[in-house]
Amino acid sequence: MRYIKLRDLEVSRIGLGAMGMSHGYTGSGTDEAESVRTLHRALELGVTLVDTAEIYGPYTNEELLGRALKGRREQVVLATKFGLVSHAGEGAWNLDSSPANVRAAVEGSLERLCTDHIDLYYQHRVDPNVPVEETAGMVGELVAEGKVRFFGLSEAGPDTIRRAHAVHPVTAVQSEYSLWTRGVEERVLPVLRELNIGLVPFSPLGRGFLTGTIRSTDRFDEDDFRRGNPRFTGENFQRNLAIADEVQAVAAEVGATPAQVALAWLLAQGDDIAPITGTKRVARAEENTAADSVTLTAEQIANLGSLPVAAGDTHTEAQAQMLER
Ligand SMILES: NC(=O)c1ccc[n+]([C@@H]2O[C@H](COP(=O)([O-])OP(=O)(O)OC[C@H]3O[C@@H](n4cnc5c(N)ncnc54)[C@H](OP(=O)(O)O)[C@@H]3O)[C@@H](O)[C@H]2O)c1
Repeated sequence: MRYIKLRDLEVSRIGLGAMGMSHGYTGSGTDEAESVRTLHRALELGVTLVDTAEIYGPYTNEELLGRALKGRREQVVLATKFGLVSHAGEGAWNLDSSPANVRAAVEGSLERLCTDHIDLYYQHRVDPNVPVEETAGMVGELVAEGKVRFFGLSEAGPDTIRRAHAVHPVTAVQSEYSLWTRGVEERVLPVLRELNIGLVPFSPLGRGFLTGTIRSTDRFDEDDFRRGNPRFTGENFQRNLAIADEVQAVAAEVGATPAQVALAWLLAQGDDIAPITGTKRVARAEENTAADSVTLTAEQIANLGSLPVAAGDTHTEAQAQMLER
């Protein structure tokens, strides 16, 4: 495994997102033992960046990591997120990045993660009711207290990134980025490069779609995030299958799997980019991690970069309102 720097923070080029072990996708929360084995195997293979959030579950994903990382904490760059749970009473899926809420959130996350510090603490979504300067100032206090090492933002737009960074240095922005989700390239990535901030792409396999293993949505559980997602429904889904087929074709040329090709393309976009793949299975963690040694030709990178634009938005209209674009 190779390692890169997100500003001053060294991480494995490929990280592991733990969300799907507890939340979001079919099969979540059904096999803790395999999830724990997956985490341990990823660490053995050199993965250091491990990602969670208080909203995943809520709370159960952080609790799982707290149990799984006992005795292994020092091997991990542990990232979690605040701002989608209002601790003052409104609860989960309510934006709240007020300083008081950030302080309440960090105490809960530290306890659940069984640690005395969070390596990378992200605001999960920008809160339009709280100036980001106040949030950044609070995270700065947590850094001074040793509870947090580095500050991140997720799905933030250029203006928010600049304003937050002016108060406390932003180490990484975590946003959706993959072969079929290219929105960060135009406005966000140039600002990150100007300010020396790293990019952590989430859903780098397109929530599993780019691996070519999802040919129908019939088997998604009722509460699977993808069930109501515009890209995974109706005609859009059928049209998007052509994208997965193109990735598969390059994979056949390279002698790699489609997941590895999708990751190798992201890695080729720069040494300031560390995607976090999501899986709860050992074999897939092994497959995804091995993408570190898959090399694409310039022509393959260019061809993949000009795949047809995906049909459908990455989020429903209501969810998209929380994204800064
Ligand atoms: N900041 C945010 O707003 C935000 C939003 C979403 C996610 N995230 C973070 O980003 C992480 C990654 O996102 P994601 O889970 O959507 O990523 P992803 O890697 O694009 O997709 C994960 C899905 O792909 C499947 N998968 C993984 N590897 C595979 C392989 N080699 N072959 C076939 N299928 C494979 C997984 O199934 P199995 O688990 O069954 O293998 C899962 O259903 C999350 O865990 C979370 O930490 C952040």
